Amino acid sequence: MSSLYVISGMAGMTGNEVARQLLRRGDHVIGFDNFFASSMDAISDIIDEPALLFFAYDLDNLAQMADISARVVERKGRYDRVVYINCAAVVHTEWFYNINATFDTNVVGMRRFLEQAILVGADVFINCSTSEVYSMRSWEEGGVRESSPVLIDTAEQSQRTSYAAGKLLTEFFMKDAVDKGLIAGCSIRFANVYSKNERFAKHIIPHILNSLERTGQVTLLENSRENRRTFLHNFDSCAAVLALVDAPGALDGSVYNVATDEEVTILDLVALCARLLGIDDVHVEFEGFRESDPKRRLLSTEKLRGRTEWMPVIALEEGIAQCVEHMRAGA
Ligand SMILES: NC(=O)c1ccc[n+]([C@@H]2O[C@H](COP(=O)([O-])OP(=O)(O)OC[C@H]3O[C@@H](n4cnc5c(N)ncnc54)[C@H](O)[C@@H]3O)[C@@H](O)[C@H]2O)c1
Repeated sequence: MSSLYVISGMAGMTGNEVARQLLRRGDHVIGFDNFFASSMDAISDIIDEPALLFFAYDLDNLAQMADISARVVERKGRYDRVVYINCAAVVHTEWFYNINATFDTNVVGMRRFLEQAILVGADVFINCSTSEVYSMRSWEEGGVRESSPVLIDTAEQSQRTSYAAGKLLTEFFMKDAVDKGLIAGCSIRFANVYSKNERFAKHIIPHILNSLERTGQVTLLENSRENRRTFLHNFDSCAAVLALVDAPGALDGSVYNVATDEEVTILDLVALCARLLGIDDVHVEFEGFRESDPKRRLLSTEKLRGRTEWMPVIALEEGIAQCVEHMRAGA
């Protein structure tokens, strides 16, 4: 028997690739998305799969969520396992400052979805959290660990951290549910996931690629003069989700970092993008400053690697080359 997966935010970067990898291995998927930050384009290759049921639904819509719940209950007996994966979230940086919008979906919506999973008797719940919870202590030698204390900027510094504070709260809901024996599961702290088919070019990689392709130049925040980041291809982020789902011992309600250790300066990232686009002479301008933005963010993935076989397989250069190819194919 195969498993039934219920995926919120399925058209997003994580959701669409998780669904793709699951369908490929013969599992069945019920997915939904309200297209807040995605479109049908990202799932056009899988939408007609007989093993996929997809709905244009909103996590915050109680009637629509009741429909999802009823469909799971109706089908549950046909599967050996039911797994909920909560990918829906208000994610992009511009929204981090909008405490009300992020709280409704990211915190209240997550908690309701977890409650639904428990009520239908699902076996596993995967909570997508974020490396943003490390806030201003996002770097240490060898990478920050899940057990490292966080040093979070508060409303005194910037509203930006409201997103991280909300996500941190979801980790407590997850742990509480597992500790009470209601469900198995874990939280995942992703760091800077990118994908070749991001629709809204607000993240740094599509921003750089689109700007360079159009104008041969790019405008970055002042922070980018110094900032370094790691970037995780969505194939690898999703492989980590599935590795955790398949590692019962790992589903103890705790938290897992999911990232690469390939740290680059943002300026080196621009140079890499330019090289892969075939642009020799790049002009970079700096404008604006983002408060509460750590200079470095490096996560240790030792815990994840100790409990699963996961390791990232797509190096940054290969991933950016895919983004370039996809961008040019769609131009
Ligand atoms: N992308 C990253 O770098 C990153 C980093 C850390 C954590 N995360 C977390 O990983 C998870 C997946 O993010 P992603 O990278 O796929 O982002 P994404 O924005 O590509 O996907 C999120 C999806 O959720 C959908 N959505 C938003 N609100 C919804 C609602 N109310 N109802 C239904 N769908 C809704 C969006 O339309 C989008 O398709 C999120 O929880 C996010 O917080 C992402």
